[in-house]
Amino acid sequence: MAIQIAPSILNADLANLAAEIRRIPSADWVHIDVMDGHFVPNLSLGLPVVESLAKSIALPMDCHLMIEDPDRWAPGYIDAGAKSVTFHIEAASKPGQIAKDVRAAGGRVGMAFKPGTPLTPYLDLIPLMDMILIMTVEPGFGGQPFLVHSLIKVEEARREIARHGGQIWLQVDGGVTLNTIERCARAGADVFVAGSAVYGAEEPNRMVAELRAKATDSFGS
Ligand code: DX5
Ligand code: ZN
Repeated sequence: MAIQIAPSILNADLANLAAEIRRIPSADWVHIDVMDGHFVPNLSLGLPVVESLAKSIALPMDCHLMIEDPDRWAPGYIDAGAKSVTFHIEAASKPGQIAKDVRAAGGRVGMAFKPGTPLTPYLDLIPLMDMILIMTVEPGFGGQPFLVHSLIKVEEARREIARHGGQIWLQVDGGVTLNTIERCARAGADVFVAGSAVYGAEEPNRMVAELRAKATDSFGS
């Protein structure tokens, strides 16, 4: 599978979100961080903003739900115009049902793990998903340092995905920069979220290309 880059808008100028997203035309996705102030101690944006963005941007939206009760909310993000929605396993009541509902709405579904959540109890759910997201920081804020120990879980997830034929995407999110992306790719990640690295760069679109080149060189090596 080709390497994919999904810049997170959390560190973009949120008052000019659509214009900020147009600065990264070479990205594969735009990663939209949805936070409810309960599942994580921060509040960002939600359904109405996603619905408005869908009308004015060309990039597909990858919505990362850091919210309680994703069972109730996840499919609505596809109805609102997102192409992919990722829920946190820690917040889900019936993850298998969420996967079905999101797919029935016509979207891709991802399952996310916080740094402290082990993969092992949830291995049976992996083949039901289109993507697994291994958080490489505690969710809630952009610009945090990369947690190196989470790479063990990325490797573990890659092995599981390989067991199921290798089609499921493996995303990393948090602290992904030019300094850390190679290690993530070597551990088996193929979809990379980068927030502050991209929007903190002078030329965000060029940073997308640089991140992609590093990840492509290191993937599987
Ligand atoms: C953190 C979010 C991330 C974050 C990434 O809770 O899920 O998507 O915005 O930002 P950086 O790349 O700055 O860690
Ligand atoms: Zn995110």
